Amino acid sequence: MRCKLCRGRKSIVFGSGNARARLMFIGEGPGADEDEQGLPFVGRAGQKLTEMIEKGMGIPRSDCYIANIIKCRPPDNRDPEPDEIAACEGFLYKQIDIIRPKVIVALGRFAAQTLLRTKMPISALRGRFWKYRDTLLMPTFHPAFVLRQYTPENRRIVWEDLKKVKQVLEADQQ
Ligand code: URA
Repeated sequence: MRCKLCRGRKSIVFGSGNARARLMFIGEGPGADEDEQGLPFVGRAGQKLTEMIEKGMGIPRSDCYIANIIKCRPPDNRDPEPDEIAACEGFLYKQIDIIRPKVIVALGRFAAQTLLRTKMPISALRGRFWKYRDTLLMPTFHPAFVLRQYTPENRRIVWEDLKKVKQVLEADQQ
């Protein structure tokens, strides 16, 4: 009830996955399918995300933790507003601080810009690690964007970003 999104939601989509995950994904906010089921990334973009994690990186999705910047669906899937982000921020910080992932992947422009508090375009943010709350943050394209613009170039870019994440996780295990 901390912000106006409580009026239109069916569920609070808090997050899902392994609370001891070394890899965490953060998206923007729930869509219709997520609001319906109460779980993040369960619609079409979610299927793409699962494919990126499992087929691309070779990691079971259930080993990761998946959350969003905001926990309630905005009307008509509009971008979250500053007061909504502020109302939810404390929950996300707590999730990150409890899970303490080795790497966070920010999915898409909105998540990356919000977490890093910048207006830099995703094309400039993606592909490199940023220091973020005692961990490393890799911005990459949102799976919904990859679905919309399913070009070999976009697929290659996401794969390059995820490969870097995989390398860091593997190096950390040794
Ligand atoms: N898009 C997001 O950013 N998050 C979800 O949970 C689903 C779609």
